[in-house]
Amino acid sequence: MTSAANRDAVQFTIRAATNKLDVETRVERCRDATFGRAFTEHMVTLRWSPDAGWHNGQVEPLAPLLLDPATAGLHYGQIVFEGLKAYRLDDGCVGVFRPDRYAERFQRSAERLMMPQLPVCDFVHAVEHLVREDAAWVPLEQDRSLYLRPLLLAADADLGLHPSRNYLFVLTGFVTETFFGARRAIDVWLSEDYVRSVPGGVGAAKYAGNYAASYRAQEQAAEHGCDQVVWLDAIERQWIEELGGMNLLFVEPDAAQLVTPPLTGTILPGVTRESILELGPRLGLSVVERPVSVDEWESGCISGRFTETLACGTAAQITSVGHVRGHARSWQIGDGRPGPVAAELQALITSIHRGIDKASDGWLHRIDDTREGWSMADITKNTTDVSATITLIWGEVLTAQVSGESDFFESGGYSVTAARVINRISEIYGFNASIRDLYNNPRLTDFIDAMSAQIAKKVETCS
Ligand SMILES: Cc1ncc(COP(=O)(O)O)c(C=O)c1O
Repeated sequence: MTSAANRDAVQFTIRAATNKLDVETRVERCRDATFGRAFTEHMVTLRWSPDAGWHNGQVEPLAPLLLDPATAGLHYGQIVFEGLKAYRLDDGCVGVFRPDRYAERFQRSAERLMMPQLPVCDFVHAVEHLVREDAAWVPLEQDRSLYLRPLLLAADADLGLHPSRNYLFVLTGFVTETFFGARRAIDVWLSEDYVRSVPGGVGAAKYAGNYAASYRAQEQAAEHGCDQVVWLDAIERQWIEELGGMNLLFVEPDAAQLVTPPLTGTILPGVTRESILELGPRLGLSVVERPVSVDEWESGCISGRFTETLACGTAAQITSVGHVRGHARSWQIGDGRPGPVAAELQALITSIHRGIDKASDGWLHRIDDTREGWSMADITKNTTDVSATITLIWGEVLTAQVSGESDFFESGGYSVTAARVINRISEIYGFNASIRDLYNNPRLTDFIDAMSAQIAKKVETCS
C-alpha cells in the first residue's frame, strides 16, 4: 500500500480562519495546558484513495469531522497516530524536533496496519502548514510547546472485515506543558496482571488500540499510587519492556553506561530514546541495548549499581523514576528524587529543542514565523534604525502595561516580536541578549534600559 515513489508532492489549499482569536482569548484558552485540551485554530487534512493516492490537502479552521456511522476505522480500529512537538526558538522562529523520524514511524505503523504510507515530505509539509498558520500558539515558556497530533483513519463507509480502501489523515495541534508538571520523580507499577504487547503483535506501532487496551492496567497503577505502568514481556513476565507512553533507560555510572531494552518488536521505538542513545556519548556514557529483568532492576537499584532510571518520551521528556511498586515487591531508586543524569540529559535536549545547542542542529526543522511584520526580513528592516526599534519595543512595553504584564509574558505573542527585535539588535551590536533574558526579566522596562545602555556604550566605544 505504499504510494508511488516518483509522484509529485501533495498540494495544500489554505483556508485560514477569518476571525482569528485575539491575544487575550488565546491566552485564556491556554491557561489550562493539560495534555490534549488547548487546541489551536486550524487543522490539516488529506485524503487517500486507490485511484488518486494522496490528494486534497486542506489547511482549514479546526472543526468537527463529518463521518458516516459506518466508518470502518471507528468499528475495527484501523487507526494509527503520531505525537511530535514544535518549540519556540531563541531567535523567534519555530523548530519542530525531528519530524522526519516521526514521519518514518508513522509509515511503519501504517504499514503494520495495512494502511497507505504518507511520504515523509508530505508529512513534513502538513506540519509546516499547521505550524505557520497557528504560529501565534507556539508558546514562549520553557516548559511549554505545541504538541502535534497526526492521525490516520480508515475512512470507508463499509463494515466488511478487510482493510479500508479510503483513508483520512488529520493533523491537529495543542499547547501543552511537560507531562508530569513540575520536575519530580514518578512512581511506576509493575504490570503483572496485564500485558501490552506480544511477539508478532502491534506493540511497535503507534496503533490507537494499544492505548485503550492499557487503561485497565493504568487504573490499577493509579490505585496503588503510581503514575505509570511498567509493561513486562508477555511470555516470561520478567523482562522489562517500557512504560505506557515512555521508554526506559537505566543509569549504571560505574560502567559509564546507559542500558535500555532492545527493540525486538514489542516496544515502541521512541524518537526520544533514539536521540538519547545518540547523545549519551556527549555525556561520557556509552549505550547498551540489552534485556533487563525485573530481578536485575531491583537488585541493581538496591546494590547501587543502577543509580537512576529514566523515563523518556515526547510528552514527558526525560523524567526520573523514584519508586517501583508491584504486588509482591517494591523498591526505591537512588534517593527517590530526580537524579543528575536525568537533569543533565534534560538540559541538553532542551537546549537542542530551543535551537541553543548547535551540535545536533540537523534535528531541528526550522519554520519561519511568516505572520505580517514577524518575518526576519521585516525585523531586519525595523532594526536598521535603532531609535525606531527602541520605539517599537517601548510600544510593546506600553501595551504590556495596559494589558497587565503577566498576560503579556504568558501570551507568547507580542513578547516574541519584541524578542526577535532584541535578537536582531544583539546581532547588529554584538552583545548578548536573548529572548530568555527578556522572558526571565520580571520588569521588561529594566531590560530595555539595560539594553539601551549597552547600545550607547557600544556606540561610544566605536566613535
Ligand atoms: C508506548 C510508548 N512508548 C514510548 C513512547 C516514547 O516515544 P517518543 O520518544 O517517540 O515520544 C511513546 C510515545 O510516543 C509511547 O506511546
